[in-house]
Amino acid sequence: MDDIRAPDRASSISTGVRVWPSKRYAKMHRDSIEDPEAFWDQQARKLEWQKTWDHVLEWKEPYGRWFVGGKLNACHQCVDRHVHTWRRSKVAIYWEGENGETRVLSYSTLFREVNHFAHMLLSLGVTKGDRVALYLPMIPELPVAMLACARIGAVHTVIFSGFSAQAICGRIGDTRAKVIVTSDGGLRRGKIVPLKDIVDQALPACPSVENVIVVRRTGQAIHMREGRDHWLSKDMTGAHVFVEPVAVESSHPLYVLYTSGTTGKPKGIVHGTGGYMVFNYVAYQWVFDIREESVYWCTADVGWVTGHSQIVYAPLSHGAAVVLYEGAPDYPAVDRWWDIIEKYGVSIFYTSPTAIRMFMRHGEKWPARHDMSSLNLLGSVGEPINPEAWYWYFRHIGGERCPIVDTWWQTETGGIMISPTPGIDPLALKPGSATFPLPGVDVAVVDARGNELEAGETGYLIIRKPWPGMLLDVYEDPARYREAYWSRFPGSYYTGDFAMRDEDGYFWLLGRADEVLKVAGHRLGTAEIEDAAIAHPAVAEAGVTGRPDELKGETIVLFVTLKEGIPPSDALKKEIADLLRETIGPVAAPGEMYFVDSIPKTRSGKIMRRVLKAVASGKDIGDLTTLEDEASVEEVRNALARLGHTGAPPPADSSH
Ligand code: PRX
Repeated sequence: MDDIRAPDRASSISTGVRVWPSKRYAKMHRDSIEDPEAFWDQQARKLEWQKTWDHVLEWKEPYGRWFVGGKLNACHQCVDRHVHTWRRSKVAIYWEGENGETRVLSYSTLFREVNHFAHMLLSLGVTKGDRVALYLPMIPELPVAMLACARIGAVHTVIFSGFSAQAICGRIGDTRAKVIVTSDGGLRRGKIVPLKDIVDQALPACPSVENVIVVRRTGQAIHMREGRDHWLSKDMTGAHVFVEPVAVESSHPLYVLYTSGTTGKPKGIVHGTGGYMVFNYVAYQWVFDIREESVYWCTADVGWVTGHSQIVYAPLSHGAAVVLYEGAPDYPAVDRWWDIIEKYGVSIFYTSPTAIRMFMRHGEKWPARHDMSSLNLLGSVGEPINPEAWYWYFRHIGGERCPIVDTWWQTETGGIMISPTPGIDPLALKPGSATFPLPGVDVAVVDARGNELEAGETGYLIIRKPWPGMLLDVYEDPARYREAYWSRFPGSYYTGDFAMRDEDGYFWLLGRADEVLKVAGHRLGTAEIEDAAIAHPAVAEAGVTGRPDELKGETIVLFVTLKEGIPPSDALKKEIADLLRETIGPVAAPGEMYFVDSIPKTRSGKIMRRVLKAVASGKDIGDLTTLEDEASVEEVRNALARLGHTGAPPPADSSH
């Protein structure tokens, strides 16, 4: 934690008032952009390095390598650094099981457990650079396993525990992980999710996996294959092993995390160690104004980037006390989250707009039952927050006391890029705007040719300068890295998002500009869903689009053409939906599915998504001549006619 102390937080809530960014922030941002190397050189000194860097940045477009020549260990930053101070007896993790079980891990307990885990990995032959897959529920062993990998220089790849066996196969196939760590099961809404069984289904297709480490969580009987499957011994606290943290090169990969892009195959986003840790360390201070006495709770799953950066690496590198909750937000009752806030005295609470909207539906009587006066800062992430949800959050959760940091970032950016920074200075907030870029972050809104737009105009969000948290690469796919991020606007990183900057300089993030959907904050590629649907033997073609949804932000609408002679039926719809759930995960279940005669495509075979979108939303297609693809007006008209477009979504059985 730094010496920066923001003045009284309440003074930062002057919504609606025209206030430009504070002088302190403005100077910091200006200095960071004018001389990024000097700026980041200074920031990087806040971490403990085993060897100082020779160069702050080596930029060979499109690759940025930060703190070149420097050596450090991410686990050391998050654990060892604290056990050498009074924080050894400070709480690192307050764990709350869905069934009411609790565990409290101090930093010294975390230290012991991480060492024990690292020792087990070493004994299974895992060494620096090896990949380790983690398929675990939200239990302390998940951060412990991540930190243990980091300790020995192994590269973790966390697979969200809601994903299917097939998704596990894809990720393990790509990374050729040697070991997978799982648990017997996980709890979700009082039921057991049989994680080890799912891993067992996946393993025959994962030849790289030599060993499986199994954590006992739910206690039900599972199959353990002799020689391959090993229980993580329960007696972790008894074993006093010490594993020396390996000082790795700054750009040594810390992890690979898969995320959806515009093609069918998810991208393995690779993050390094030095740049990622420095960026997250400082961003966490600026955005969350973390203080020694803070109790911080981020509700994301560790399986997503938010969990990686905002549950594990950023907070623990600050020696913060973190709440980790295993289960569903509304189990056993709708006030479970508010109960947790009251129980642990949470002071900083970070969640998603979809969750807020869900609670809004249930009404304010649920939070009103709890004393949440410990809260002093709220955060939002993952999708645009609508002003209505913002105000509800502000009033009914934050008691009109707590500023809301609306944080914009991506799996690829590694850390928060655009957000209010109460840890630097208070700022007038505008509900729905993520406000200003963090120091060191140079973003702009441009038109299709890359020209910067005037205030108030909507365009594409780009990042004009490398930043330390930036992804190192797409795992073993440099061509895709270049193509996805660095080809559209030469010299700049393309975010895939629409944005607008208003006349006060505030940024408004307006959703995806590419073929990526955000369903309840989860990122899904349209092509990924289409590929999965086509795998059904009855499906000839599939086209996917998103439809705005009041609760989830967006829902999936799937258009399907069936193979000759196969009649449409509800049973088939269910089979296809089940297949998507199985292939990708429950988040991929379509909100609506229509059987149609043909999917509108351009002559070159590209799906005309605007047409699908217009049909799905019951909207007019608008100005047909401005269609971005090469479809002719005639083709679009024909396609619309074939879909029976009447200005309303096709009836559920437009299957004829
Ligand atoms: O569209 C933006 C949206 O989420 C995308 C990144 O998704 P993912 O890689 O899954 O990471 C989510 C958590 C960091 C972005 O391209 N997004 C994220 N935060 C916001 C947002 N959209 C609007 N406002 C935000 N605060």
